[in-house]
Amino acid sequence: MAELSLDQLMFRPGLMQGQRILITGGGTGLGKVMAEACLILGAEVYICGRRGGVVEAAAKELTDAHASQKGGGKCVGLACDIRVPEAIAEMIDTVWADGGALTGLVNNAAGNFISRTEDLSARGFDAIANIVFRGSFFVTLECGKRWLAEGKHASVVSILTTWVWNGGPFTVPSAMSKAGLNVMTASLAVEWGNRGIRFNAIAPGPFPTEGMTARLNPGGQDRGDEPADPTIPLGRNGEMRELANLAVFLLDPGSAYVNGQTIAIDGGSHLQGGGFSRLASWGDAEWEAARDSIRAANEKDRAQRTV
Ligand code: HXC
Ligand code: NAP
Repeated sequence: MAELSLDQLMFRPGLMQGQRILITGGGTGLGKVMAEACLILGAEVYICGRRGGVVEAAAKELTDAHASQKGGGKCVGLACDIRVPEAIAEMIDTVWADGGALTGLVNNAAGNFISRTEDLSARGFDAIANIVFRGSFFVTLECGKRWLAEGKHASVVSILTTWVWNGGPFTVPSAMSKAGLNVMTASLAVEWGNRGIRFNAIAPGPFPTEGMTARLNPGGQDRGDEPADPTIPLGRNGEMRELANLAVFLLDPGSAYVNGQTIAIDGGSHLQGGGFSRLASWGDAEWEAARDSIRAANEKDRAQRTV
């Protein structure tokens, strides 16, 4: 279901006309809402994911809801597994051939699940690191090489977590991978900044999405609720439009002097600790139930994959 309308955004209609944005993992959750905001504001938006049907349906739904409005852009869904460098190159070629260089990239695709670290297998670690750490880097590199060769300016925004600052107990492969992207952001902000390519990142606190709830609050999806962690200083979860507004701000040339920053949007949560340290009280039975529930969600999603 389309989520946003222009009056929920902070920006003037048509702000992003002429901009071309790729959002990885843009068929669901936060990626989809960022895609929607860019589309409403007039950008041409590409979204990718492994479930071709999911990205195509999302692109159609957002196009039907917004593209015909005055100043609305277009949205295209592309099946791509960012764990496969050749598939990334093919997707980026398709995007460039469809209308020229991208002006922005959002590294949003991710995999994650809660687990005791001692329970992780090598494949479990790789399942997350290959998407978040390697995949996001290779998408950035494919776009970056083209931008540098063509002398184009661009804005890259990576979606991290606040664990990059204070660690992520029970989500260690994700925390390690996101921390790597945090360093990529700071490094390339310097290395490529003098050629007009800037890098920033967003570290969201809890924004309940189906994908996140199934893997980080297993069982929550069955209850259909996601109560706010009582330790969040603002006392609530994030709202999708708040995240979308921050992403648009960082993508748009209006913020062109912001470079190399990672901005938390978490109601102040990480300053109070945040994270999953409360899971230290779980025993074997709780972990077994969580693993079963997460694996069921993984199975369900895998059945829909087309690449
Ligand atoms: C331990 C687990 C496990 C679990 C899977 N594995 N779930 N190990 N505990 N709960 C292990 C499996 O046993 C297997 O290892 C290995 O991981 C690979 O599992 P597959 O199911 O084959 O993986 P794959 O199909 O590649 O799926 C990748 C995935 C899955 C990451 C595991 O969750 C996924 O596709 N996620 C995409 C969406 C997502 O995660 N969204 C949430 C983002 S939210 P063995 O050795 O047994 O073969 C987020 C929020 C952060 O990041 C911040 C919140 C505040
Ligand atoms: P989500 O809906 O599960 O989004 C993850 C997306 O990534 C899915 O659309 C998934 O699509 C895609 N993806 C996964 N592996 C991929 C691959 N190999 N190639 C291409 N696409 C892939 O979860 P979300 O909550 O919106 O999370 C979005 C981002 O926000 C993630 O980076 C997450 O870490 C971050 N974040 C979320 C929260 C939160 O509270 N929701 C908090 C902090 C950070 P397919 O399965 O079809 O590939």
